[in-house]
Amino acid sequence: MQNHLLLKALKGEPVKRPPVWMMRQAGRYLPSYMELRRKYDFFTRVQTPQLACEITLQPVDQIGVDAAILFSDILVVPQAMGLDVQLIEHKGPYLPKTIQSHSDISRLESDEAADKLQYVYDAIRLIKKELNGKVPLIGFAGAPFTILCYMVEGKGSKNFERARQFCVSKPLEAHSLLSKITDVTIQYLIRQVKAGADVIQVFDSWSGLLSPSDFSKFARPYLIQIANELSAHAPVILFPKGSWYALEDLAVNSKASALGVDWCISPLTARTLTAGRVTLQGNFDPAHLHLSPEDITQEVHDMIRQFGPQRYIVNLGHGITPDVPVQNAKAFVEAVKSFKS
Ligand code: CP3
Repeated sequence: MQNHLLLKALKGEPVKRPPVWMMRQAGRYLPSYMELRRKYDFFTRVQTPQLACEITLQPVDQIGVDAAILFSDILVVPQAMGLDVQLIEHKGPYLPKTIQSHSDISRLESDEAADKLQYVYDAIRLIKKELNGKVPLIGFAGAPFTILCYMVEGKGSKNFERARQFCVSKPLEAHSLLSKITDVTIQYLIRQVKAGADVIQVFDSWSGLLSPSDFSKFARPYLIQIANELSAHAPVILFPKGSWYALEDLAVNSKASALGVDWCISPLTARTLTAGRVTLQGNFDPAHLHLSPEDITQEVHDMIRQFGPQRYIVNLGHGITPDVPVQNAKAFVEAVKSFKS
């Protein structure tokens, strides 16, 4: 590997500057992505290893990030478990048949679901070959609670009200579904690592909708199970977005190498809660990528000073939005490279 920054930061080893990558770095703000998007629909891009590989490499070549992240989606897991998943233009994900009962759950595929994602492992092999050791490759999956949200609600939502109702009113069904998703996810992620993924990130994009008490029931056990089983294979980054109160517990009680944070928590509070036990990743507000490149540079340098440059991975606090100018994304990455302690 030519660029060890991410792997070193995850191990807690000293680095000359922190590594940087951006969630959703392969996406609609890049004109080269938009070109492929006009030619192929979303799941064709995801399921064709050559296309997934090309899209994964775009931000590495054009923006200069220190890690590649596989171009795919968290919703390939419900798809492999037998649900129809569509991506509707201007609307987002849509699952026509949702999960509501024990019999719906029992019909979901579990043993063979990870086999159906062979195209992901093929894409990873191809990406690793093309990267040729330039930067590490991050594999990923959605966390069980976030996947449950889409399976039960059937589409994106502000509050995932139906999904939360399902958890509290049918806890037995919820736990049986969460366990089934967890089993598939663990097999899927181990196979990503066997295919060549160097690091695994688990996205719990909607865990912040839960109260601390419901988080401890419906998100925490499954995040910890995945982190603990995967950590024997590769370093794990857990990103329970919005669940800042869980940082201390996850730092102490999970085997994650890093925890992701969004911009609603200060670097100092995140450091205090985790007390040097894990690496932290985040937490630049993507809205600030609309400032001038000079202001972005200033804010990124301030953020690195606040987190401290060690045991730290510079990232956004959530995905980059499609309207960010490419030069601003570059300014974000360049700011990290020009940082002097
Ligand atoms: O980070 C990366 O560059 C890797 C690729 C990646 C995508 N989705 C590609 C994508 C990753 C890591 C994801 C994860 C994902 N997908 C999450 C968790 C992270 C987060 O953002 O909270 C979630 C909740 C999803 C579900 C999903 N997929 C939604 C809600 C949408 C529609 C919203 C949107 O941004 O358009 C998608 C589609 C999707 N996944 C796109 C991309 C680049 C947009 C597709 C397009 O229109 O070209």
